[in-house]
Amino acid sequence: MNQLQKEILKLKKQKNAIILAHNYQTAEIQEVADFLGDSLELCLKASQIEDVDMVVFCGVDFMAETAYILNPDKKILLPDISAECPMAHMLPAKEVREYKRRYPDAAVVLYVNTLAEAKAEADILCTSANAVEAVESLSEKRILFGPDMNLASYVAQQVDKEIIPIPEGGHCYVHKMFQPTDIMVMKEKYPGAELLIHPECDQELQEMADQILSTGGMVHYVASSPSDTFLIGTEMDMVTRLSREYPDKTIVPLLSEAICTNMKLHTLEKVKNSLITEKYQVVVDPEVANRARSAVERMLALPP
Ligand code: 13P
Ligand code: SF4
Repeated sequence: MNQLQKEILKLKKQKNAIILAHNYQTAEIQEVADFLGDSLELCLKASQIEDVDMVVFCGVDFMAETAYILNPDKKILLPDISAECPMAHMLPAKEVREYKRRYPDAAVVLYVNTLAEAKAEADILCTSANAVEAVESLSEKRILFGPDMNLASYVAQQVDKEIIPIPEGGHCYVHKMFQPTDIMVMKEKYPGAELLIHPECDQELQEMADQILSTGGMVHYVASSPSDTFLIGTEMDMVTRLSREYPDKTIVPLLSEAICTNMKLHTLEKVKNSLITEKYQVVVDPEVANRARSAVERMLALPP
């Protein structure tokens, strides 16, 4: 641990704080986190927080908002307040309401990568780890699903329901970087490797994958697979986590340029500042939070 990391650990104790971090955080932030996970694991962790006064959330806006929705009595801090997920801003609540008017018989399943106001319009939320289960849990045959079109098409292939992707063109700029040629080049270099792809990647890439998994799913898969080499089709720091935890396995990025710059806005310096100044606090309007909470809790109640 470096000096800054040691100071952060000390401050955490003094402030009775914990650090939750998404798998796309840098190694140095991963090392000081109390819990590291995917969106679903972070939601679950946030729902179980007790006996702490504050949570420093090293992730993007929608993740911190969800933690607040589940813990309105705690200080939820984002070390850099501008850490936004662009995809979460592609489906404003107003647009969800418009789609609901156009499709009155459809249920609404929203990806957790949405802002609180949009979440408040959903019947249930989902992450990339439980999207199929969330859709299957509803009795409706027509489902408005957004904002990620690639996750929507992944779900549409697994269920016997009509999936209507909303809005047109919702996507993640990081997962859009992957091209089929990346797979061809890397498969030639690592012929025996298993290819793990995130469902936010284009369908063409999903079709070439050995496994389509959330980032948490990738951790569990690498842990239990007998293979020793894996090509990782998601954000670069997922490779950092897997390489740290499985040093005996060969973990190779499918594309080393796949970096979520929004996630990287958090730094150790900013984490330290956040603990000292108790900034930047994330809050959600109580009426919006109450409505969004039902959709979050419905997701958390899905069988694991
Ligand atoms: P995971 O839930 O799989 O970690 O995905 C979150 C995300 O934002 C992917 O880009
Ligand atoms: Fe959002 Fe994509 Fe970054 Fe995930 S990787 S936080 S979906 S921009």
